[in-house]
Amino acid sequence: MSSREPIGVIGTGYVGLVTAVGFAELGSDVVCVDIDAGKVERLQRGEIPIYEPGLAELVEKNRERLTFTTDLSVALDRARLLFVAVGTPPTYSGDADLSAVHAVVNAMPASDRHALVMKSTVPVGTGEAIKRVFEEQGKSGFRYVSCPEFLKEGSAIDDFLDPDRVVIGDEGGWAGDAVTELYRPVLTPELGGSKRGELVRTDIKSAEMVKLASNAFLATKISFINEIANVCEETGADVVEVAKGMGLDDRIGSKFLKAGIGFGGSCFPKDVNALKQLAGNSGYHFQLLNAVIEVNELQKRRVIGKLQKNLGSLVGKRIALLGLAFKPETDDMREASSLVLSARLIADGAEVVGYDPIAAEEAGKLLKGVELAGSASEALAGADAVVLVTEWPEFKELDLAAVASSMRGNVFIDGRNLLDGDAARSAGLVYEGIGRGYAPQADVPAGSSL
Ligand code: UGA
Repeated sequence: MSSREPIGVIGTGYVGLVTAVGFAELGSDVVCVDIDAGKVERLQRGEIPIYEPGLAELVEKNRERLTFTTDLSVALDRARLLFVAVGTPPTYSGDADLSAVHAVVNAMPASDRHALVMKSTVPVGTGEAIKRVFEEQGKSGFRYVSCPEFLKEGSAIDDFLDPDRVVIGDEGGWAGDAVTELYRPVLTPELGGSKRGELVRTDIKSAEMVKLASNAFLATKISFINEIANVCEETGADVVEVAKGMGLDDRIGSKFLKAGIGFGGSCFPKDVNALKQLAGNSGYHFQLLNAVIEVNELQKRRVIGKLQKNLGSLVGKRIALLGLAFKPETDDMREASSLVLSARLIADGAEVVGYDPIAAEEAGKLLKGVELAGSASEALAGADAVVLVTEWPEFKELDLAAVASSMRGNVFIDGRNLLDGDAARSAGLVYEGIGRGYAPQADVPAGSSL
């Protein structure tokens, strides 16, 4: 038995699994609860339902500390802190759907020795509403802590074990103190740990807002650089150089200044909308976020314009999409740019073939009418044009001369500015990135090495 506090984690999605395995790695026994019996059985057998680098290895390493069950009472018996990591998907109105959170709240017994620790992203005011429900249900002894999660898919384990900050929102008392102790090892040496984590111990509403505001700010940064990229295309500047020059200013910072074909994933689109709705519901019109969302939608569609500029009508044209997941190192297809892009291309009469090193299975469930290839070269063979949608490292290693000779056409739209444009052009491709100045190569005849 470990000397660290045992915990329960409710929900075994990305956030739940990473939180569970992260705390197990730090020495806690963790009871993971999920209502999906099939998923629990797979986890008990050691099968990890999602692709996240390092996760399977860490689950294996900490197997003895991890229990997977559908039975909430196992967690309630063994732990006083119950981390909630259930989904809060968007509803039709753009608000967050809190039904899974409320199901957890309703399942809690009256208790003076337990606390819910909210990891799921929820609107500001949720903690207060839950505390009211606890009171109405005669469970006012149940404590509540907001502890938003900031992990990024693809680097989630590192983000957990070496975070920028840990945010804990509570009203004082044992539960917030206990959560702080759990995170102690990943805090800075000044705070008693050995990592980089700064601690923000605050009230519940502010903690809830830190999460939404952080995601909305990052999404704003991306839409901002995408608009700069679009202006660069009109004016002949190169957005990569511009972002470098801007990012060196400490106040701006170099991260999240990569122009591309828009942000996706389970968090940014949902959280930006949720914050917009939250503001709207309380009477404030958050103008900036409308623009952030609109720019992101248009950014995905601009690729169609680039293809049409180079190919004319897309009817009957074979277009290869390299990368389908919303970003590299994940199999997550939620709000991936490939979904919008492929649907638009098909609607315009194109034939679409896609390849992704990891997300093919997930993509197969969602991409309607798209042929899935087993490799990049298979996808490229016979294509009139290719769009690099997700910057998987393997695409950086593409043999560009081989790409050019296997394609029927020669148009290469690099939606993530991953490749060296000059190398692509000398291999005979009509290469166009995002925001890389004028693209005079559109007029260069097919096969030219200019
Ligand atoms: C995001 C946040 O970065 C995490 O801090 C947060 O915890 C998480 O949401 C969440 O709320 O759960 P994630 O969605 O995993 O993490 O992915 P990011 O790495 O942030 O990328 C989001 C999207 O932005 C991707 O589609 C990516 O391609 C795009 N992006 C990112 C750009 O287009 N340009 C950039 O410079 C950076």
